[in-house]
Amino acid sequence: MTPEKIVILTGAGISAESGLSTFRDAGGLWAQHRVEDVATPEAYQRDPTLVHAFYNARRTRAAEAEPNAAHIALARLEAKHPGDVLIITQNVDDLHARAGSRNLVHMHGRLMGALCHACQHRWPAPREMRATDPCPACNAAQTRPDIVWFGEVPYGAEIIDPALSAADLFVAIGTSGNVYPAAAYAQHTARLGAHTVQINLEAASNARDFAESHFGPATDVVPKWVESILRR
Ligand code: APR
Repeated sequence: MTPEKIVILTGAGISAESGLSTFRDAGGLWAQHRVEDVATPEAYQRDPTLVHAFYNARRTRAAEAEPNAAHIALARLEAKHPGDVLIITQNVDDLHARAGSRNLVHMHGRLMGALCHACQHRWPAPREMRATDPCPACNAAQTRPDIVWFGEVPYGAEIIDPALSAADLFVAIGTSGNVYPAAAYAQHTARLGAHTVQINLEAASNARDFAESHFGPATDVVPKWVESILRR
């Protein structure tokens, strides 16, 4: 069979069963914190210590978490179809990479990355980061997590846009479909002829954009869905 071009978008739901909080579920991160206090450039300028505390806690939890069966199944799919599977993740944890996925774009950045707000230099993040940590390149004391905050431009468009145009199959896993541009990918790829699949605990806000839906926990549904693809 001709390998299909498969584009997979993941959200916080795929890491939920690894013990990491989602954003909009009951008790999620946006129930505990205000976006404007911890996830905007203005928040960082106003109170960098509070912003770093938010991300330091998430970095520690992500480092202690393990990839789950859903992450591992997606890495297996890529291994069987090298070059034909791209994961676009909204997640900032490193569980896809630790599960073995390689063709991977972190469109909202990475907890394990540090970024200099002054010169844009990037380096591996220490477990606990402070704004006053000097930049290894320019020595400025404007260190921030390498995270794309609300109001900033997501990473990876140069990879994402061509991949969406070429997709035969677009699959969204564990995302509530509330944040753009990712929430528009299903409608966009469907218009270009791709088959669209939603895998989630419940119907996402953009559920009507999908031709096929599978509801249930990612660690149960994703491995079964991958097996159905590999059997074709
Ligand atoms: N299995 C599958 N899906 C799950 C599971 C699970 N075990 N647990 C939760 N979900 C689903 C929820 O039903 C929800 O639809 O995952 C989705 C998580 O939605 P959000 O919390 O909104 O997370 P996400 O869609 O990734 O948010 C997108 O918003 O705040 C920004 O930058 C942040 O990247 C994030 C973006």
